[in-house]
Amino acid sequence: MKMEDFANKVVYQIYPRSFQDTDGDGFGDLRGIVERLDYLEDLGVDYLWLNPFFVSPQKDNGYDIADYRQIDPRFGTMEDLDALIQAAQERHIGLMFDMVFNHTSVEHEWFQKALAGDEKYKNYYIFKKPVDGHMPNNWVSKFGGPVWEYVPVLGEYYLHLYDVSQADLNWDNPDVRQECADIVKFWMDKGVKGFRFDVVNNMSKGSFEDDFIGDGRRFYSDGPHIHEYLHGLNRASFGQDPSIMTVGEMSSTSLENCQKYANPEQEELGMVFNFHHLKVDYENKQKWTLKPFDFMELKELFNTWQTGMQETNSNQALFWNCHDQPRSLSRFGDDKNYPVESAKMLAMALHMMRGTPYIYQGEEIGMTNNGFDSIEQYRDVESTNYYEILKAEGKDEDEILAILGAKSRDNARSPMQWTAGKNAGFSDTEPWIRVNPNHATINVEAAIADPDSIYSFYKKLIRLRKESDTIQHGTYVPLLEEHERVLAYKRVGKDEEIIVLCNFYGEETTVSLHTEADMLLSNYADFQMRDGEVTLRPYEAVVLRKAV
Ligand code: NOJ
Repeated sequence: MKMEDFANKVVYQIYPRSFQDTDGDGFGDLRGIVERLDYLEDLGVDYLWLNPFFVSPQKDNGYDIADYRQIDPRFGTMEDLDALIQAAQERHIGLMFDMVFNHTSVEHEWFQKALAGDEKYKNYYIFKKPVDGHMPNNWVSKFGGPVWEYVPVLGEYYLHLYDVSQADLNWDNPDVRQECADIVKFWMDKGVKGFRFDVVNNMSKGSFEDDFIGDGRRFYSDGPHIHEYLHGLNRASFGQDPSIMTVGEMSSTSLENCQKYANPEQEELGMVFNFHHLKVDYENKQKWTLKPFDFMELKELFNTWQTGMQETNSNQALFWNCHDQPRSLSRFGDDKNYPVESAKMLAMALHMMRGTPYIYQGEEIGMTNNGFDSIEQYRDVESTNYYEILKAEGKDEDEILAILGAKSRDNARSPMQWTAGKNAGFSDTEPWIRVNPNHATINVEAAIADPDSIYSFYKKLIRLRKESDTIQHGTYVPLLEEHERVLAYKRVGKDEEIIVLCNFYGEETTVSLHTEADMLLSNYADFQMRDGEVTLRPYEAVVLRKAV
């Protein structure tokens, strides 16, 4: 059965703990999502990807799952979930769940049995004996520190690529693969229409040797059996219903592998998230550094991935934001001087590309980094770990806070800004994490009232994709590759070309198109083109159309 291509769909990502609180505990819940469905329907999105809300000790905000089939009471009940699925369906919105299959919480029943010495369940995880009295290898966890934790009663270590509370599953064990397929089927039976698979390309571990040139990832990213395991999962679960949308989160992946993961012929996944374009502000490939983003690198990455994925007809998730990334408007735009222009420009740059766009909650109203100014305001395990690591490296407090202020995932996790009122309309009680003070001006209420708002622009972009076969299926062709300020490309359709020009800077710049074209959309009120020359004002972005 052939999978749909999902090129006409737009996904909205909800971080449930920060979307809408209805029971007054300062923590978002499933009922809150139901309350806001009208807003999402009006925006025009097709799917809601919800970050995990399953039973979890919440050491990594729900990515540490203790029971894949139960709702964590903090988020509500199974009845609440049924009501949400139903209400979303009535609005033709599908729900997409987050499947965390690389690891479970150490509180999961399987791990508890493993700890009690049950061999069957020990083999669900990756336990290794000490080597010469030491850890099995020198790999470093994604959240800092070693990837091994010693269990004295067993005399063995277990592997955790992430937090110590997240034990890696052993995907070489067919029972584990079957358990995961069963979980997917359980949610399909409940009416779930899509799945996002967390760090899915880390699941097949290769050899466990020491890594003397890196942190170990080269031994497990896109590991030896990963394509075979994903094909198996596809056949045993979601692949049985071609209308199910899937996306794999790929950590430190390669284009070659993604061309396979998302190639419909391979029957693995519907599309992939890759993060290369979100590392262009890393110094020496290190996240916890401060560096202005490298525009030429960004541009080259977009062009390489867009053209590369289209070669194999593989679909790509298009995104600037998610719960793991600082806000794109603060990162790639100018949230002080040109917040509206740059937010619209960034949206246009992405929404006209080949793939399926994802909007992360609040992006559509121009939410920015939070502006936290003390370590006490941070909640995220990765950020608080790195605070200690940077301190131990001898960095001073101000520098560390500046780095966290630019890079922490908590920037994306502060509550959705619904109104200018108390707690931004998110909750009656003090939220679990600080609300951004700028909710006084940046909020949904104000955005809806303004026909020129970022929100109104997102609505137009979504509509345009749905109406245009060229945006959905046109060939992506890079333009003006050497231009140092403008991202430019065209999409070549059956009888037209759509040209996209985005000025990523706060200064005016000119580009020569050597052709005339009509304007389809712009983030400025008018458009300046003369004799094939376009003058782009600060952060100006235009979409042009030309019949061919
Ligand atoms: C990726 C998720 O998006 C992130 O939030 C989480 O911390 C890690 N995977 C570990 O599950």
